[in-house]
Amino acid sequence: MSATSRAAPGSRVNSFKLVLLGESAVGKSSLVLQFVKGQFDDYRESTIGAAFLTQTVVLDETTTVKFEIWDTAGQERYKSLAPMYYRNASAAVVVYDITSGSSLEKAKSWIRELQRQADPQIVVALVGNKSDLAERREVETEDAQRYADEENLLFMETSAKTSENVTAVFEAIAKKLPLEKPKPARAQNNVNLQEQGTTQEGCAC
Ligand code: GTP
Ligand code: MG
Repeated sequence: MSATSRAAPGSRVNSFKLVLLGESAVGKSSLVLQFVKGQFDDYRESTIGAAFLTQTVVLDETTTVKFEIWDTAGQERYKSLAPMYYRNASAAVVVYDITSGSSLEKAKSWIRELQRQADPQIVVALVGNKSDLAERREVETEDAQRYADEENLLFMETSAKTSENVTAVFEAIAKKLPLEKPKPARAQNNVNLQEQGTTQEGCAC
């Protein structure tokens, strides 16, 4: 069973930096708000600079992933700040709005930038948000899926409004990250946990 919740006692917490990128108003902040707090606002202020939040995903009783999330501002005037946030990131969620073809083009340009400049091991998810607005759809699921397959990206359509697939995106990313598994009980006998920097942390949201 997987869930977003406090780490199970004895489970190893793996922390990863994750960045959200995408055109303004595609719903990056809304996705994070839904993932971290289970809330949605019909009206949200555009992000200024970037926002930082954390959330944990419990993959199983021994493995917890803590995401340190940088929610960047999509407005063009903040574009030059983005490298500061994707540098050293282990994962990126590149968001477009399924009702806006141009927002997919913008997402593709972020993906090209990540491929050129981010860590080569970065796990990238392409996310088509606002799936609840299917009657206004401009981007076909198959077209985005084909592009994601070609570029070796995770792909999902989400709704920050209804919460459809929101946790699923972060869980799929968590499963692709290089996780440290706890050592078998016998091998742990001689290990000084403090020296290893092992901590047990819960959700800091
Ligand atoms: P910037 O901070 O400017 O980069 O924008 P953003 O990508 O963070 O977008 P934000 O989350 O602020 O959402 C923009 C608008 O879209 C808000 O009015 C949200 O309520 C709305 N919105 C976000 N996600 C969804 C969704 O899944 N469905 C619907 N119907 N509306 C959404
Ligand atoms: Mg925002």
